[in-house]
Amino acid sequence: MRKPIATLVAVVLTAGVAVLAGCSKSAPEAAAPAESGAPSAPEKKTFVIGMSQCNLGEPWRVQMNKDIEEAAKAHDTLKVVFKDAQNDTLVQQNHVREFMNQGADLLIISPREAAPLTGPVAEAYKKGIPVIVLDRALLGEDFTMFIGADNRLIGEAAGKWVREKLNGQGKIVELMGLQTSVPGHDRHDGFVKGLGDAAIETIFSADMKWLQPDAQREMESALARFPKIDLVYGHNDPGAYGAYLAAKAAGREKEMLFVGIDGLPHEGRVYVEKGILSVTFEYPTGGREAVEYALKILAGEQVPRNVVLPSRFFTPENLAAGGELIGGSDAPAAAAP
Ligand code: FRU
Repeated sequence: MRKPIATLVAVVLTAGVAVLAGCSKSAPEAAAPAESGAPSAPEKKTFVIGMSQCNLGEPWRVQMNKDIEEAAKAHDTLKVVFKDAQNDTLVQQNHVREFMNQGADLLIISPREAAPLTGPVAEAYKKGIPVIVLDRALLGEDFTMFIGADNRLIGEAAGKWVREKLNGQGKIVELMGLQTSVPGHDRHDGFVKGLGDAAIETIFSADMKWLQPDAQREMESALARFPKIDLVYGHNDPGAYGAYLAAKAAGREKEMLFVGIDGLPHEGRVYVEKGILSVTFEYPTGGREAVEYALKILAGEQVPRNVVLPSRFFTPENLAAGGELIGGSDAPAAAAP
């Protein structure tokens, strides 16, 4: 069950200081002691959260930041400072170090790549800064908690859906997410599992690095090489859409189906509504949950190591009804604290 916001604020105000008193800042509006000798208002603390975003080029990441901002707005004890690494791992490493050196009270990071960001995050964590890793996993254990959907389960659901839609046979293109990021691997591994022993052949696969222009370019190559393509599996909606644009430019978009992941209401679900994608699998941003768990951590409460967010899928048939939960009985329970 979610805790009412008021309760969480109260917890932060009363108990949160213990853990991070050294770093937290006094809010300027904290009341000065009254001259009359009346009891002074309790001092309010403002906690600074550093949010390291790997890129704001995709609508999904813009949405993640919005979700964080919205959730934090409800708490005047929180100030979130956002940094955008513009898809540059070195820049993101520096951002983590900057937050650490500036004495942020807590770090949220959605890392571009796993291995190169593991070290800087571990450094901050070992200095006593709690770290919430969002969406793309890191290596090792040196962070406070991870929040994200189950990319293997999503990939597997996509594989099963494709298998059924193609009646167990066909030729497909797979446009993969950045292979040095964990979701890119998990969405592939899950997909292969979901396809099972179907006679479905992946005739072309490429790392489109989560980027629509790269996906479009890779798809142009696939179209040039293969006269028959039944379906394109894009590891995200920008990738699937990039592939669609390439096929459309070649006059071949009606010959094949397009499958994507993210399912934003203003992106993937619109593509489904327009008949561009046949299905999109939701990948929740976890922004709101990150703020709620940050409040708990700052209040000195215990939090789980791993929070798995549930996911739905959207087709023209179920769109109006709000999609359908994936994973059946394996589906993760609602994850809000
Ligand atoms: C945005 C994005 C999403 C994708 C997620 C994976 O950068 O590529 O489209 O689902 O990252 O981490």
